[in-house]
Amino acid sequence: MQQKINEITKKALEEISKTQDKQQLILVNSKYLGKNGELSTLMRGLKDVSSEERPKIGAILNEARDTILNSVKQQEDSIENKILEEQIKNEFVDITTPVKPLKQGTMHPIEIVQRDLINYFIEQGFTVQDGKEIESDYYCFEALNVPKDHPARDAQDTFYFDAERLLRVHTSATQIRTMENNTPPIKMISTGRVYRVDEVDATHSPMFSQFEILVVDKNVTMSDLNGTLEKLAKHLFGEKAKIRLRPSYFPFTEPSVEVDATCTHCGGKGCSVCKQTGFIELLGAGMVHPNVLRNCNINPDEYTGFAAGLGLDRIAMIKYGIDDMRELYDGDINLLKQFK
Ligand code: DAH
Repeated sequence: MQQKINEITKKALEEISKTQDKQQLILVNSKYLGKNGELSTLMRGLKDVSSEERPKIGAILNEARDTILNSVKQQEDSIENKILEEQIKNEFVDITTPVKPLKQGTMHPIEIVQRDLINYFIEQGFTVQDGKEIESDYYCFEALNVPKDHPARDAQDTFYFDAERLLRVHTSATQIRTMENNTPPIKMISTGRVYRVDEVDATHSPMFSQFEILVVDKNVTMSDLNGTLEKLAKHLFGEKAKIRLRPSYFPFTEPSVEVDATCTHCGGKGCSVCKQTGFIELLGAGMVHPNVLRNCNINPDEYTGFAAGLGLDRIAMIKYGIDDMRELYDGDINLLKQFK
């Protein structure tokens, strides 16, 4: 009997060690330990063993069962480990494999100029004011000292939704909203799209972008305007840039000036960038008209201010040597991706 048990155990261990998967292991397990398994049958036969021998044989049988069970358990672990290893191998991600480069967009030239200017003015303590592209006649014209039948409205014809609402022709409307909601000192910039009834050509578009500057405080003078704008010109075109002021007219400023920067491409000699004039037209500016201050409940005897508005498209065109404004809006990826 003892020998038989040993033989069965040996055979069982051998077969267990050869199993490759759980299914096979279950079969081998039941072949020996199952209801009619070889070892179980022997165990059932224990009752026929003589009573002296029974405890000894019983102990051997139990030991054999434990050995087989242990072996089954071990084999099960080893099969599971193999499955896991296999999985890990199959799911292996080679992090050194070169990846296809992501297609990264570039910033639009106008956006680049806009962000640069915003940062430049924020550094000097200016606040950034949001404006509205759909404005009312009041903020866009009336409050800026441009009454209904003022001839200046001709040059700034726009798109009307109805008698009151229109697409703003300039960012200057934001001056009014800012002065209405704040008390001086005010140092603000505002930027965004503006609209005019204009035919599209190399220098015109019914939609373009402006950048507005407004400073209101006690004792603000023309020399503040001059200093601020000269510094701005140097920031945009380099340290050598200077500005010149030409008398001009805007209903919302008095006096009004047109500001040119010396052309740093040719050093003022004249080239295609400055159209042979040696100067680049930069912006319109002036001292805020007393009527405009009054419209915003600011006392012009106590406060003065200067304002300026520049076209971002022009600056982008000059900076990047783009000579046709339409190229800014054509959406030609090959052109636009050059700018970073
Ligand atoms: N709003 C003017 C335009 O669109 C530009 C301008 C001129 C803005 C003088 C100003 C200013 O703030 O003071 O042509």
